[in-house]
Amino acid sequence: MSRIMSGIQPTGSLHIGNYLGALLNWVRLQEEYECYFSIVDLHALTARPEPQELRLAVRELAIGVLASGVDPERAVLFVQSQVPEHSELAWVFSCMTQMGDLNRMTQFKDKSQFQADNINAGLFTYPVLQAADILIYRADRVPVGEDQVQHLELAREIVRRFNGIYGQTFPEPIVVPAKAPRVMGLDGESKMSKSRGNEIGLFEEPEETMKKLRGAKTDPQRLRRNDPGRPEICNVFSYHGYFSDAATCEQIAADCRSASIGCVDCKQSLAGNLEKVKGPIRERAQELRANQGAIDEILNEGGNRARAVAKETMDLVRERVGL
Ligand code: TRP
Repeated sequence: MSRIMSGIQPTGSLHIGNYLGALLNWVRLQEEYECYFSIVDLHALTARPEPQELRLAVRELAIGVLASGVDPERAVLFVQSQVPEHSELAWVFSCMTQMGDLNRMTQFKDKSQFQADNINAGLFTYPVLQAADILIYRADRVPVGEDQVQHLELAREIVRRFNGIYGQTFPEPIVVPAKAPRVMGLDGESKMSKSRGNEIGLFEEPEETMKKLRGAKTDPQRLRRNDPGRPEICNVFSYHGYFSDAATCEQIAADCRSASIGCVDCKQSLAGNLEKVKGPIRERAQELRANQGAIDEILNEGGNRARAVAKETMDLVRERVGL
């Protein structure tokens, strides 16, 4: 049976891009596969967060993951730093990774620009740790967004090299494409992200979301209420595709083209359908927040389960490489 591994960084609060691009897929995949889902706090260190904030972000993310429907009885949910074998395997892998390959990583270049005053070595070897995250569980499928495909290719290259030198040890992991591989931000210009401030928060109250939607760009040619719109190029309409049923999408598209509804009507309908998804998640998160002890227990239990598998792999690696 296939094994799934995926990770999400504890940076900032969850938004619908994370939900559609990662969490929703996790919830589906846990029904079918053995899944390892990690809150990757070691990766988050590359941006040097405040210690208290990092700790809080890990808990909040765990709450968000659970509230979105990841079931700790089915999937192993754990915090990366609780399984030290990730770091250990990352070191071994770093010795089989070529500088030239890391230099080609576009995310490293992007992040270096974003934090020009802190281009640390961790940022550079980030994809090596990511490969270790996956392969410490000998996972063969990895649900990730488009921006992670290059990292997965590097992981496969590391596997080929390792297996070539030390004998068949790891599977070559493949990408499980997300249903929504790239959710655009409210600005319609770049991927939804907290750092760009173009996000719809997963825990947001409906009024807050509507306020943001009101300011969101639509078809630039639709200046007046009577101008016919072009839903196919409208960023706000693209969200309907994720949250509204097919009949609603068709109706909105037709009414937009004929100008029988305005952008505000379209946005209101969207806000309502968004809330149908967001509302129950927000409520579950609120319940979970009231019971921190239970969260810690779930994470500890997940850490123990993950560690048992990670240790087996690391024992094998030690033997293969001569440690
Ligand atoms: N780099 C991934 C991201 O930013 C997060 C991540 C870390 C990950 N380790 C992973 C994803 C292992 C999949 C598998 O989205």
